[in-house]
Amino acid sequence: MSKSTVKPAEGKLGVLVVGLGAVTTTFMTGVLMARKGLAKPVGSMTQYDRIRVGKGQDKKYLMYKDIVSMASLDDIVFGAWDVYPANAYESAINAEVLKEKDINPVKDELMAIKPMTAAFDKNYAKRLDGDNVKTVKNRWDMTEQLREDIRNFKKENGVDRCVVLWAASTEVYVPVNDNVHDTIEHLEAAMKADDVENIAPSMCYAYAALAEGCPFIMGAPNTTVDIPAMWELSEKTGMPIAGKDFKTGQTLVKSGFAPIIGTRMLGLSGWFSTNILGNRDGLVLDEPANFRTKEVSKLSTLESILVPEEQPDLYSNYYHKVRINYYPPRNDNKEGWDNIDIFGWMGYPMQIKINFLCRDSILAAPLCLDLVLLSDLAARAGRHGIQRFLSFFLKSPMHDYTKGEVPVNHLFQQYTMLKNAIREMGGYEADEEID
Ligand SMILES: NC(=O)c1ccc[n+]([C@@H]2O[C@H](COP(=O)([O-])OP(=O)(O)OC[C@H]3O[C@@H](n4cnc5c(N)ncnc54)[C@H](O)[C@@H]3O)[C@@H](O)[C@H]2O)c1
Repeated sequence: MSKSTVKPAEGKLGVLVVGLGAVTTTFMTGVLMARKGLAKPVGSMTQYDRIRVGKGQDKKYLMYKDIVSMASLDDIVFGAWDVYPANAYESAINAEVLKEKDINPVKDELMAIKPMTAAFDKNYAKRLDGDNVKTVKNRWDMTEQLREDIRNFKKENGVDRCVVLWAASTEVYVPVNDNVHDTIEHLEAAMKADDVENIAPSMCYAYAALAEGCPFIMGAPNTTVDIPAMWELSEKTGMPIAGKDFKTGQTLVKSGFAPIIGTRMLGLSGWFSTNILGNRDGLVLDEPANFRTKEVSKLSTLESILVPEEQPDLYSNYYHKVRINYYPPRNDNKEGWDNIDIFGWMGYPMQIKINFLCRDSILAAPLCLDLVLLSDLAARAGRHGIQRFLSFFLKSPMHDYTKGEVPVNHLFQQYTMLKNAIREMGGYEADEEID
């Protein structure tokens, strides 16, 4: 073994999820089934991927757990918050992602996961009307109650380390307000003044997690931790943060496919992406203010891979459009279409069509697992603030835009960042160049 200085993953790992919906119940069911040897965690980097360490004759390809100490599936204890009172079993059945035969063997464990009351404000997701909701005096009180939930969860389950993962509905778009979101002091003042316009409930979850010493992951496109005040808080409490928006279907394809065009120096005149989906996520995203949050996140991918300023002949003025349409008959089985208008030698136009018939939650579940395990690893490694090595899993990677930082969206560059971080935490040389 190497000279890793990362604290070992001893004891249980609490995984507290915000939102007990399609994604999280699919994630939980898969973990519990895999633990019993009844399912395989397909798609999970931490469970399958092998990374090269060393060079030349010394090189070896090792799994993450053989490079650095990682929590195992057996260590995980789940908890949740949701606006609806259904337990994880009922919610998994309602979501209709998995067949009953794949849920029933872990029915008892799932039934025991009962959601705590949610920190919720209907103005942030108008189409939800559950009543498993906290009564709060103001946003500060909301945060205090969530902190208490985390402390109680840790105590009741004998858990020292906890990770908080937001996989709840997408909230309405909250633009960054330079007078509120800039410092911890201003953020706290706004919470105490009950500034409901600028403080989304998700910010209360993030604040509570970081203040209680838990890494926080934003799996939706919300701007929650994309603000300097949260970066400051995560530095102060020494906790990692990651976000935003799981990179599952269409954007995964985009960030893997755009490099084909860019690597072969082909031109792009337009990329039109559209989706139909019929789950509750689709219903919430049918609301224009909620879709706006998703749109901002989805649009950012191409511009940093096919950069107009670097190749004006090839990439200036391409038209990029993303649509999501709510279509109930498909439920969680999203269908995405991409029409890509490219041009080649002497400007002659060509088209590429991609039709991805995917399963949203089946693609998101392994990302939940990897983000949780790797955030726990980052915390034990003493890494705080924005975790850029987790960009690989995210549509709209966090970056310090106040310093003009450009996020890395290119899938293979992101993979290199991931591998280098694992190598480094394992005490090996982070020896792979990002070209
Ligand atoms: N599945 C994917 O491929 C994918 C990809 C990227 C992002 N996401 C995001 O993941 C999130 C979850 O997706 P899903 O399909 O599971 O949705 P879902 O609607 O099935 O589940 C979301 C759950 O969150 C709950 N919720 C909403 N606000 C809450 C709050 N303030 N506190 C606690 N619970 C709250 C809802 O009641 C619901 O049960 C969405 O924001 C979605 O945009 C999903």
